[in-house]
Amino acid sequence: MNDMIDLMKAHTSVRNFTEEKIPAETLRELIDAGRAASNWKNFQSYSIIVVDDQEQKDKIFEIQAQKSIKNCSAFLVFVGDLNRAEKAVKLNAGDFNPAGIESLLISSVDAAVAGENVLLAAESLGFGGVMVGLIRDQSAELSDVLNLPDFTYPIFGIALGKPARLNPVKPRLPYENVVFSNTYQEQDEASIKAYDKVQEEYAGARRLGSSWSQRIVEQWGKSENPSSTQNLKAKKLL
Ligand SMILES: Cc1cc2nc3c(=O)[nH]c(=O)nc-3n(C[C@H](O)[C@H](O)[C@H](O)COP(=O)(O)O)c2cc1C
Repeated sequence: MNDMIDLMKAHTSVRNFTEEKIPAETLRELIDAGRAASNWKNFQSYSIIVVDDQEQKDKIFEIQAQKSIKNCSAFLVFVGDLNRAEKAVKLNAGDFNPAGIESLLISSVDAAVAGENVLLAAESLGFGGVMVGLIRDQSAELSDVLNLPDFTYPIFGIALGKPARLNPVKPRLPYENVVFSNTYQEQDEASIKAYDKVQEEYAGARRLGSSWSQRIVEQWGKSENPSSTQNLKAKKLL
């Protein structure tokens, strides 16, 4: 349709990088492109920690052992941030009541929208990356390494760099299973089974050992990891 849409539809996560570094000024441009995203009431309730120091990347890798964190050019940690809001409230002598789900939705959505923009900007220049949400499994430990104050919490990272190789584009659910006309339409099991098959065919030789729907059981068949909730309470956000 156009280059922008082609780029978006060619997205594929990159977890293996060459040694090539993203130049500092380029990285700054990518992040500024991300920061141009829409955000709630222009409050920009997130911060981005650029981790480009190898020792610091290694420390995060020790906490959450994903190779992309260690081997990327830069690991950007997107942090939900109501710490600035506290300062603004104090400036105006107001009461500060940030704790609750709505604040978390505001800051998490803001960060996610900006993060996706950064990733797309990187892809437009031939770089690539992967979002890393599993850092939330060790939220408190990561918060310590990054020196995160009250009213902040890690949401996800993005490992960025020059792709060592690109996976084929991963097929999404069929349009009709996700996009409904005017009202919600609950799906039947047949659509789940059909997508299990699509994913199995996509994975091909790189067998993942479980089907798409079985991986959903691994996620939601048990109680959630308490790490985020505990950390959010410690940071006075819950
Ligand atoms: C919020 C978020 C967190 C993610 N966390 C991880 C992660 O911790 N590790 C990982 O390898 N991939 C992670 N991913 C990447 C997804 O697994 C990937 O986007 C998805 O399987 C679709 O594949 P694609 O991006 O190649 O199209 C994450 C993606 C998002 C949006």
